[in-house]
Amino acid sequence: MPTTTTVQTVAVIGAGLIGCSWAALFAAAGYNVRLYDTRPGTQQQMADFWENVKPTLIRLGLATSETQPLLQVCDTLADAVHDADFIQECIPERLAAKQALYAEIEPLLKASAIVATSSSGLKLSDLQAQWQAPGRIIIAHPFNPPHLIPLVELYGNERTAADVLPTATALYEHCGKEVITLKREVLAHVANRLQAALWREAIHLVLDGVASLKDVDTAVRAGPGLRWAVMGPHLLLNLGGGEAGLRAYCEQFRDSYHQWWDDLGQPRLTDQAIDQLVEALQEEIADRDYATLRDERDQKLVAILGAMRDVDNQRRQEQAR
Ligand SMILES: NC(=O)c1ccc[n+]([C@@H]2O[C@H](COP(=O)([O-])OP(=O)(O)OC[C@H]3O[C@@H](n4cnc5c(N)ncnc54)[C@H](O)[C@@H]3O)[C@@H](O)[C@H]2O)c1
Repeated sequence: MPTTTTVQTVAVIGAGLIGCSWAALFAAAGYNVRLYDTRPGTQQQMADFWENVKPTLIRLGLATSETQPLLQVCDTLADAVHDADFIQECIPERLAAKQALYAEIEPLLKASAIVATSSSGLKLSDLQAQWQAPGRIIIAHPFNPPHLIPLVELYGNERTAADVLPTATALYEHCGKEVITLKREVLAHVANRLQAALWREAIHLVLDGVASLKDVDTAVRAGPGLRWAVMGPHLLLNLGGGEAGLRAYCEQFRDSYHQWWDDLGQPRLTDQAIDQLVEALQEEIADRDYATLRDERDQKLVAILGAMRDVDNQRRQEQAR
């Protein structure tokens, strides 16, 4: 796959769960990738990760069996960032640590370089605080695992330089991502707020004894979750209103929703609640280990993504006729 013209070299800082996944995706998309982590053993970890995800990237059409990733694990932060056009920061979710990293790299960066943080919920205004040139850092939040889940949430504010969001959007779209752009700053962006809202009620239903953890998970997975993979809630509920659409749906169910919203739970993740959830989860997991569950998730995600791509292609061909 040819790279976008303005970005050739991408540095990924932090080679944990998210960093390795981003690095594999950027490499598959043809970028020259530099990876840096403070932990020893990153070379082997990344090599293992690449071998593990390569078949998936091939099935998604993002790599071929011939793909030789231009992926270099660097010994120093300076080696990783000094000539990078784009930096995907993936260190742990701690504001002070991210600010310290930015203070260290800013003097090393090309003036045109863009720093995109994978942060799940920190505010851009806080992340910009220590920068001399705050216009070069943006939020680019993926959903785990970034090499598979298409969503990237972008946010830049009034301090963000004009070229930054368009360049970032082009880069992520080149990697097969679906980009949304937030219009204003909000804690936890969009998708994590939605996830938090749903998970809060899922926890409440389990702790309140309404249904088992297994049944609550099934209710999401086999019901609305499956539909949400295909269309967002507003498009779906537009269909729920029949030919008269979302307006009819709202008018029909307005009172019900108001009652349901008033009745939703407000659980807290106390130690006792965590114990209860983990115990219930153990029963559901049984003897499946982490790798088994991860592989099941990834195989099914690839199957769903492939099937949806086939449908989209077929519909495009039909429309073109
Ligand atoms: N885990 C998720 O589901 C998820 C999803 C989307 C976004 N994120 C975000 O991605 C970021 C990384 O999360 P993660 O789950 O991959 O964490 P992680 O703990 O798995 O990985 C972080 C890596 O950063 C390294 N590191 C720490 N300080 C460093 C430094 N100064 N320089 C270089 N490397 C350093 C660590 O050694 C570790 O390998 C966080 O901001 C998180 O909010 C996480």
